[in-house]
Parts: sequence; structure tokens; C-alpha cells
Amino acid sequence: MENASIRKARVVDIPAILELIELGTKSGKILKRSPSDLRRNIRHFWLAEEDGRLIACCSLEVYCQKLAEVRSVSVRPNHRRKGVASALIAHCLKEARRRRIYEVLAITDRDNLFKRMGFAEQLHGQKALFSRPGHHS
Ligand SMILES: CC(C)(COP(=O)(O)OP(=O)(O)OC[C@H]1O[C@@H](n2cnc3c(N)ncnc32)[C@H](O)[C@@H]1OP(=O)(O)O)[C@@H](O)C(=O)NCCC(=O)NCCS
Repeated sequence: MENASIRKARVVDIPAILELIELGTKSGKILKRSPSDLRRNIRHFWLAEEDGRLIACCSLEVYCQKLAEVRSVSVRPNHRRKGVASALIAHCLKEARRRRIYEVLAITDRDNLFKRMGFAEQLHGQKALFSRPGHHS
């Protein structure tokens, strides 16, 4: 993460973000996002840049004062394992703290990445349970 910097995304970044997310879906469990979805949610996206090139993205989707979700974390394959995702997640948590969001959620198969940042399966005896209403498991 030495030379990378984090900034807010702008509308002009949408094609590059779509590409990053597409790349992420190939090796990890993240959902595809459509151009219109990104246009609606661009204000929630944060980007990591190195030498003027976009190397990673993530979003902090704020649903209400109570709840936000870290989503769409994707790092270019040749920039992985250098702490870029960790830095983006830490940035989202800082942003959530600044905005006085009560709880931040992450739905992930990369538990360690999030646990290192302070996420836990239980919070004061409570668990996050989720369901996909359109699916039977
Ligand atoms: C998952 C993903 C976002 C991780 O990005 P990343 O930038 O490699 O993440 P980090 O570097 O912060 O941490 C990844 C690992 O590298 C290690 N690491 C961090 N800095 C390091 C460094 N300087 N040197 C060596 N290893 C390092 C971390 O310990 C971590 O180990 P883990 O396997 O226990 O989690 C990335 O692999 C990706 O884009 N995958 C496809 C999309 C995806 O799966 N997204 C889902 C995330 S919820």
C-alpha cells in the first residue's frame, strides 16, 4: 500500500470500477454491478490509486444512520496481498465513524480480512443472520 492513495470515486470512474468489479467476480465472491446501479451509488465508492492508475475499489453503502455495508471490495490481481483492501476497509470504517453510523456490515467469505479490521461474528451476544428471499437453500 506504500505508494497508493485513497480517494472518493467520481462519475467518470464508472467504466474502470465496472472493470475492477468484473475482475473481482472471476476470483472472488462479489456481486456484479450494472452501470445504472453504479451511477446510483457512485457517491458511496472509494478508490485506491497508484501512479495515477486505479488499483482497487470498495463501497460503503449507507442504508440509514443505523446501518452501512462494505461492498464490492476488489483489488487488481497484481496488487493483491499488499494491504490495499485492508486500507480501503479501514478507510470505510473511518468514514462510518465520522458519519456516526451505528453498525457496519460485511457479507464475505474472506473472514480474516474483515476480522483483522475489527469485524466480528457476534456483537454483544447478537449475530447477523441473513436470508435470500428469492432462494431456497
Ligand atoms: C479479497 C481481496 C479484496 C483482498 O485484497 P488484498 O488487497 O489482497 O487484501 P490485503 O492485502 O489487505 O489482505 C489480503 C492478505 O494479504 C496479506 N497481506 C497484507 N499486506 C501484506 C504485505 N505487505 N505482505 C504480504 N501479505 C500481506 C494479509 O495478511 C491478508 O491475508 P489473509 O489471506 O489472511 O486475508 C482481493 O483478493 C480481491 O479483489 N479478490 C477478488 C474479489 C473478492 O473476493 N472480494 C471479496 C472481498 S469481501
